[in-house]
Amino acid sequence: MIFPRAIDAGTACRAIASAAALGAGRIATSASHSWPYVSNAHSDPALDALLLPFRQGDLRWPEGPVLFLRARDGWALRQFPLDKLLCEQSFKPAADDLMRTGLDVVEDASSHASADGYALVLVLPPRQRDEARTLLARALSLAAPGGMVVASMPNDEGAKAGEGDMKRLATLSGSLSKHHCRVFWARRTESNDDALRSEWLRLDAPRPVLEGRLVSRPGVFAWDRIDAASALLAAHFPADLAGHGADLGAGHGFLSAEVLKRCPGVTALDLYEAEARALALARGNLRDAAATLAFHWHDVTTGVSGQYDFVVMNPPFHAQGREDRPDIGRRFIEVAATALKPRGRLWLVANRHLPYESVLDAGFGQVRTVAERDGFKVIEAVKAGRA
Ligand SMILES: C[S@@+](CC[C@H](N)C(=O)[O-])C[C@H]1O[C@@H](n2cnc3c(N)ncnc32)[C@H](O)[C@@H]1O
Repeated sequence: MIFPRAIDAGTACRAIASAAALGAGRIATSASHSWPYVSNAHSDPALDALLLPFRQGDLRWPEGPVLFLRARDGWALRQFPLDKLLCEQSFKPAADDLMRTGLDVVEDASSHASADGYALVLVLPPRQRDEARTLLARALSLAAPGGMVVASMPNDEGAKAGEGDMKRLATLSGSLSKHHCRVFWARRTESNDDALRSEWLRLDAPRPVLEGRLVSRPGVFAWDRIDAASALLAAHFPADLAGHGADLGAGHGFLSAEVLKRCPGVTALDLYEAEARALALARGNLRDAAATLAFHWHDVTTGVSGQYDFVVMNPPFHAQGREDRPDIGRRFIEVAATALKPRGRLWLVANRHLPYESVLDAGFGQVRTVAERDGFKVIEAVKAGRA
């Protein structure tokens, strides 16, 4: 079954092949994935730890419906019956991984809630504290009365704080440590702190930031500030960028807004962003733009389909975990080179230490460093050929 590569952020994506058809225990691979961002090809300690209480018999996999918030695919998940599993994932590469192997995936499970609640809610909370608190509160809200919520967090991504937060919402039924992660679980019961749960459900709500310049929310990139690297790039945008452009990894739309403000010849701009929560913000932040805009919930590493006069970007260089992943930025540069017309211009910013020079030289006719400041470099690269 083939699923569309680019789906509008507002569109919930559902894979309709049942997990049962795949066979329990099948090891999902992403060998066909041009670049595995969050992939079952990599080990996933938080996912392995999350499912350990079921594998070692501390908890029983229920017969009733199961919800997985911030779901990721992997071998550990494949050990269980998945026919009643619904996955929520707003990050496109991870959603694609889940869909590729036939799982049911939605961008926001709140609008697909099981009438009686879920017997089990699995959660992989993110590092950002407010977003994580909201996710734990949502997990309890979506669980059936008596249903179990199980969460797993890496120790170096706030596991201790996350476990403390869960204890404030509900009485813990158990916890364990494994793979440098903490796993903790609790039931939805009448003794839960429902007032705190209601409060935390609103913690990651969109709100105006930077004196109303943008609307943002906890958890998206640089959510309550202008990223210093992006600010440096925007300050160097030449006023003659013109025509149809693209913003790769557009986040909440800061760079796009700056391009539109500083470059009056821009007639159209396509925003590509993997995180649906960020893309929805960009849509709102740019609603008054005069240029024609298109918003793509999309994994840029799989390529983009347009042909552009210019591309702007502050490419990501992290996946899960804290280690640098310059392969991601390099892939963004390759995609930009392919998507540009001859003489098309790429404007990008990167941390100075990131090794992007060889891929820039391979994809472009001319490359120049426009500015270097505070550990960042702003680069303009022009594609070879006749305009
Ligand atoms: C360094 S941030 C820049 C955000 C925004 N352009 C700005 O300057 O504030 C990189 C962005 O790329 C997004 N991203 C990460 N991986 C992606 C992928 N594979 N495809 C598309 N976007 C991705 C992240 O969600 C993040 O919003």
